[in-house]
Amino acid sequence: MMLCVSLRFSPQSPLTCLSYSMETLPKVFDVLRMGLGGSLRSRRGGTSVGYLRSARNYAGLAFSQKIGQRTSPLSGLEDELLGYISGNKKATEVAHSIWKCIVQKGDTVVDATCGNGHDTLALLKMVGDGSGRGSVYGMDIQNCALESTSTLIKESIDPNEVKLVKLFNLCHSSMEEIVPKGTLVRLVAFNLGYLPGGDKSIITLPEKTLHALDAARRLLGPEGLISIMVYVGHPGGREEYAAVQAFGSQLPGEEWVCCKFEMVNKLTAPVLFLLFRK
Ligand SMILES: C[S@@+](CC[C@H](N)C(=O)[O-])C[C@H]1O[C@@H](n2cnc3c(N)ncnc32)[C@H](O)[C@@H]1O
Repeated sequence: MMLCVSLRFSPQSPLTCLSYSMETLPKVFDVLRMGLGGSLRSRRGGTSVGYLRSARNYAGLAFSQKIGQRTSPLSGLEDELLGYISGNKKATEVAHSIWKCIVQKGDTVVDATCGNGHDTLALLKMVGDGSGRGSVYGMDIQNCALESTSTLIKESIDPNEVKLVKLFNLCHSSMEEIVPKGTLVRLVAFNLGYLPGGDKSIITLPEKTLHALDAARRLLGPEGLISIMVYVGHPGGREEYAAVQAFGSQLPGEEWVCCKFEMVNKLTAPVLFLLFRK
């Protein structure tokens, strides 16, 4: 079986296409692991550790397993990345693992498309530490989606943590209206397209998404991440993909690292864009 994946960092950086057979997979993963390291930083445990290293460093450079006293933050991500490139893990699982490396207890995060609440719940678990710190601002234009999200959270989380989530029936282009002024947001998550199990004609639209991405850019603090899952298999999905690609491409490389996870031989697979503010 052959699998093909492309990874691109900023617009000026080389596009890395990985095509491999199952036998060469361990080698491919070593290369990927070396490429991931550099600009994305985790401050867990008070230490800054690089994640996304420039693609040109792929060849030959050993990825530092230890920075200071800390083991590589890729531990934990490895399973998901290997699972993704071997076709066994979904892009959403990769996204959640990356979020866990970025988000810290007590952070403020935004779920720009609550849907059935799976992302909201994952984010809540990342920010909550039982002390009442941390906030998740969630929004959706459909009430039924907010009801599903609310139900899922109430069923899954300690009642004391539930109040860390604030849900709004709102277009994500207006997210700045609900996040208190001056709050530095660590992560804004977009999971575009239609509500699974819902009305497939209600989808996210490129123009609103672009406004929302711009709002997310203004809200995001340093070492924060905008994560965008784009579904390209439904009508309008490709246009939205192009809009997100264009948005990420114009962010200045001095301040942003923009990359994507994309299957190149499975054209309807979702694409994960990651826009990291240095
Ligand atoms: C793919 S679903 C999200 C899945 C969700 N994150 C989850 O974990 O289940 C996309 C959602 O975006 C919502 N949506 C569409 N346009 C929107 C907009 N302008 N602002 C906010 N949400 C929107 C849809 O109603 C739908 O529920």
